[in-house]
Amino acid sequence: MTLVGDLLAAQTAHFAGLDPLLPPAAGPVRGDAVSAALPDGGRVAGMVEFTEYPPGSANRLWSAARVWELVPVLGASGRAGMDALLRAWQHRMAGQADFDPDSACVLNWPSRDVAATRALLDHGLVPLSVLAVRERLGSTAPSPGPLTVRRARLADLDAAVELSMLELAYSALVGSAVIRPDAAALKREALANRLRAGDPVWLAEHDGVPVGLAECGWTDSGPRTAAAARLPHGRWGYVNCVSVLPGARGSGVGQLLMAAAHAEFATAGVAGSYLYFNPPNPLSSVFWARQGYRPLWTMWEIRPAGALR
Ligand SMILES: CC(C)(COP(=O)(O)OP(=O)(O)OC[C@H]1O[C@@H](n2cnc3c(N)ncnc32)[C@H](O)[C@@H]1OP(=O)(O)O)[C@@H](O)C(=O)NCCC(=O)NCCS
Repeated sequence: MTLVGDLLAAQTAHFAGLDPLLPPAAGPVRGDAVSAALPDGGRVAGMVEFTEYPPGSANRLWSAARVWELVPVLGASGRAGMDALLRAWQHRMAGQADFDPDSACVLNWPSRDVAATRALLDHGLVPLSVLAVRERLGSTAPSPGPLTVRRARLADLDAAVELSMLELAYSALVGSAVIRPDAAALKREALANRLRAGDPVWLAEHDGVPVGLAECGWTDSGPRTAAAARLPHGRWGYVNCVSVLPGARGSGVGQLLMAAAHAEFATAGVAGSYLYFNPPNPLSSVFWARQGYRPLWTMWEIRPAGALR
């Protein structure tokens, strides 16, 4: 086997020991190769892929415009391997010296690899987002009251956009989201597409007035799908955006919305459901854990890209 082949096999075994829900380690496919030597004579490798999202693209709502992503191939070298590769990456980035605030270095790594976490923190990276999963579980029956939940329709687009912009405003304070000038138009287009596609989008109402939104969809993880690098094979429920009006938070609206979404996921026979949340979000970090979600992958990030150390 090649160096990368050996490292990938060792990394897959390492991942399996860390967390049973991690898929086999996927080899990096594109980018500039970076590698480093370890004190014990071993080597680690990785690929750095640069992406610039064009103005007007939806990716700019949750990402910096210019992103360098490192895909590490560390085998089972843990903290020492991550540290060595981050040093090599930092050396490479110093040549580019991008201090534009709309630039970032990012890296996805299994949340439970806390030895690697130490190295990532030491190099200045911040755990800004977590991909959290919930294995197929039952859902609690919603309690009756003035709150009701129903599937959203195209006629609800204005209310859905308003709620999703409130979520963006909150998330922009606690994570990687950015409020771009065209944010409302991009949200409107994405929500309209979801509603037209018949994706599960739920609206909570209090006496008929919209107070909450759960915008969900479906993701298939299988051979040659992008999701296979993150999730075990199978169909997954995806929770894209949950938002409750500020004055209605903490009164059970989110719980009721998720009871409806989880019931539909269960009926569809999904392997589980997943979402992204920001650990510094004081509301969602607690809410999602109570809803049965736990970290699988952490997205580490530093802005500007040139601040990597
Ligand atoms: C995160 C968010 C969607 C959660 O929705 P929510 O309606 O505030 O959450 P809920 O009220 O359903 O649940 C929160 C807690 O309030 C409790 N609660 C339920 N009914 C309640 C009531 N009548 N009075 C007080 N608390 C109540 C819930 O039980 C839950 O606590 P528990 O799990 O310990 O029981 C919402 O706070 C929000 O929109 N936040 C800003 C945007 C955001 O962070 N979105 C998620 C991005 S990933």
